[in-house]
Amino acid sequence: VDDAGIVEQFTAARRDRHLAVLEGFHAVKHAIRFGAELAALVGTDAAAARRLTEELAPDLEGTFSHRLRIVAPETFSRLAPRAPRTGVMAIALRPRFDLDTVLSDPADEPVVLLEDPRHLGNVGACVRVAAAASACALLTTGSLDPWQPDSLRGAAGLHFALPVGHVTELGRHDRPLIALRPDGEVLDPARLPSRAVLAFGTERHGISERLLAQADRSVAIPMRAGVSSLNLATCVAAVLFAWRLRKAD
Ligand SMILES: C[S@@+](CC[C@H](N)C(=O)[O-])C[C@H]1O[C@@H](n2cnc3c(N)ncnc32)[C@H](O)[C@@H]1O
Repeated sequence: VDDAGIVEQFTAARRDRHLAVLEGFHAVKHAIRFGAELAALVGTDAAAARRLTEELAPDLEGTFSHRLRIVAPETFSRLAPRAPRTGVMAIALRPRFDLDTVLSDPADEPVVLLEDPRHLGNVGACVRVAAAASACALLTTGSLDPWQPDSLRGAAGLHFALPVGHVTELGRHDRPLIALRPDGEVLDPARLPSRAVLAFGTERHGISERLLAQADRSVAIPMRAGVSSLNLATCVAAVLFAWRLRKAD
């Protein structure tokens, strides 16, 4: 494949729901570390990529040295709307996602449900913190594809560390459903049940009446008077780490 072929490959991958375009060294690093199967790995400077690998991902030196294909900087700049400064990008196969497998997972860890999120950077930040906190999975509803490149960039490629999928609705399941909303009862981490689905609402309008009606309880992160709400990803982080730190006691 010549450089023009690489540009075509990346352009097509952005529209392909079976593929993930990874922009930047950190996204590529995490994806490989958590088992991503690569379809392409490109960069502008072999020596710079080697230095980054030695410094930040010595465990992955073999993959980088074997797979990295060097392209001209002009070609690289055409692979993404904002070419990453680290000079590395990749295409990976998205892992298989199955909602029933996620919902029937017997482990204690919660599932994060984002209802109709509107900002891909927020979705990525939620994936990143869900991976860090060992959440069971992250699900989204609504119009956005959580695997879009901007979300992968915000997550630093951590979509490969846990199941991440778009769903139309939850369907039947046996998990407690806890809705997060600023006017719920004050969150007591000790009362967060195992295997919960933690549901967070859309950035502007909050959680829908329909989802609230399905919830077993609604809980709030207490805030100083005058502050109306937390940013979506900040709220996901606060709740997941309240749960995780309680578990570590
Ligand atoms: C930016 S907020 C939406 C604000 C919206 N006006 C509302 O009243 O819910 C996005 C989501 O983060 C969660 N959230 C934000 N602050 C919260 C808090 N203090 N307690 C519980 N959930 C919160 C909720 O799930 C909310 O739907």
